[in-house]
Amino acid sequence: MFGNLYLELNINFSTMNNKKVFLDENDIPRQWYNILPDLPAQLPPPIDPNTREPINPKALERIFPRALIEQEISADRWIDIPSEVRDIYTMWRPTPLIRAKRLEKFLKTPARIYYKYEGVSPPGSHKPNTAVAQAYYNYKEGIERLATETGAGQWGSALAFACNLFGLKCTVYMVRSSYDQKPYRRVLMHCWGADVYPSPSNNTKFGKTILDKNPNHPGSLGIAISEAIEDAVTHENVKYSLGSVLNHVLIHQTVQGLEAKKQLEILNEYPDIVAGCVGGGSSFSGLFWPFYYDVYVAKKSPKMVKFIATEPTACPTMTRGIYTYDFGDTAKKTPLLAMYTLGSDFIPAPIHAGGLRYHGDAPTLCLLLKHHLIEPIAYNQVQVFEAATIFARTEGIIPAPEPSHTIRYVIEEALRCKHTGEEKVILFNLCGHGYFDLQAYQEFFEGKLPAWEYPEEEVKKSIDKHLEEYPWIKELPFLRQ
Ligand SMILES: Cc1ncc(COP(=O)(O)O)c(C=O)c1O
Repeated sequence: MFGNLYLELNINFSTMNNKKVFLDENDIPRQWYNILPDLPAQLPPPIDPNTREPINPKALERIFPRALIEQEISADRWIDIPSEVRDIYTMWRPTPLIRAKRLEKFLKTPARIYYKYEGVSPPGSHKPNTAVAQAYYNYKEGIERLATETGAGQWGSALAFACNLFGLKCTVYMVRSSYDQKPYRRVLMHCWGADVYPSPSNNTKFGKTILDKNPNHPGSLGIAISEAIEDAVTHENVKYSLGSVLNHVLIHQTVQGLEAKKQLEILNEYPDIVAGCVGGGSSFSGLFWPFYYDVYVAKKSPKMVKFIATEPTACPTMTRGIYTYDFGDTAKKTPLLAMYTLGSDFIPAPIHAGGLRYHGDAPTLCLLLKHHLIEPIAYNQVQVFEAATIFARTEGIIPAPEPSHTIRYVIEEALRCKHTGEEKVILFNLCGHGYFDLQAYQEFFEGKLPAWEYPEEEVKKSIDKHLEEYPWIKELPFLRQ
């Protein structure tokens, strides 16, 4: 007499559990969203420092597979996700959307706080969303090995995981300070079959020149990128892979925001605020781009949304950086990118949020910041671990140091709501767990974490030097819009 009882009775099991929303595997998006056609102005192109002209995409073929170069410059708003990639995504996707009810109760806030939890992936963060896609396209083009850099080890372990699934070899240059701070991330990469070198290393010419000057150099992401690129260009059938910053990487991360939108829809909610941390900008962009699309492109969002980007005071690219063309690496081997930068020679303090220690940010994110479409805010690591500990003691999950910057913001915003009585809906990206970061928690509990800040004068000094060395950058027409 009756068909499907659930439909008949209008029961939606997702909404019955109002703390977490799980989607079905069929709900994993079939397309990624690309913000390029929807930016407020033309994205300044990457510049070839030799010709001083926009780079010819063909020149990138030495380090990237053709499919990823096409995505990098694609004007298509929607890009199909290959079925092989979707199939691997089902190993951990869709990821849950969780309401932080215990945190809300603890803070006595009327705000409703939701987090998209990417820590459920095998390597423990959002990074495999792009690692799997990148390994897939390289595999399809017959590449045998990928070389990459890693800060905290999250990206390196994600690429090691992804390469292993497609039978590719993987070489990871891990920033030395993280290599020493996080030995178990290294072991994780070994479990998935990757070779890991502390950077600067003796494996490359560039690494050797740095070690000759300072054998105890702590390393930086800029140096590790230079080493990985050198490895790729000096070996046959090896390509380079980047875990953030570039358009194609951010595009792959939009599975997060597309899922989160569906999950909030089930709850009949829409965010007032979408927040995330920024190292290069991939986790934050992956979450907020689909909401940006609703607000500024489709113009169908029920409210205006604030997009909040958090970062460390020790590496304050968005809050203290200067918008100009700069190299993506320390050896100055990459094209010049238009971004807020601290200077490509920046050596960050060894803060525990290793993934947030990059001197620049994604050009797309920087353009949005320049147009005041996102708001940046910086915290020091003591403020960050205070917030992380409150989160751990209310919600249970030990958050990675990187998203804990956002947790600090969320707690402050929720407390502001307590004073004003506003029932704001806050969505943030809990883009990784911190179970390999316990050394950092221990140092915090022992009161040993310095509250590093990077002074504005240092940024200016570094950029002045850069512009003295490359005075023609100031004449480039692309920054004047
Ligand atoms: C857990 C986690 N969050 C955030 C980041 C920062 O990178 P992005 O801004 O590209 O998300 C990293 C980088 O390694 C990371 O491991």
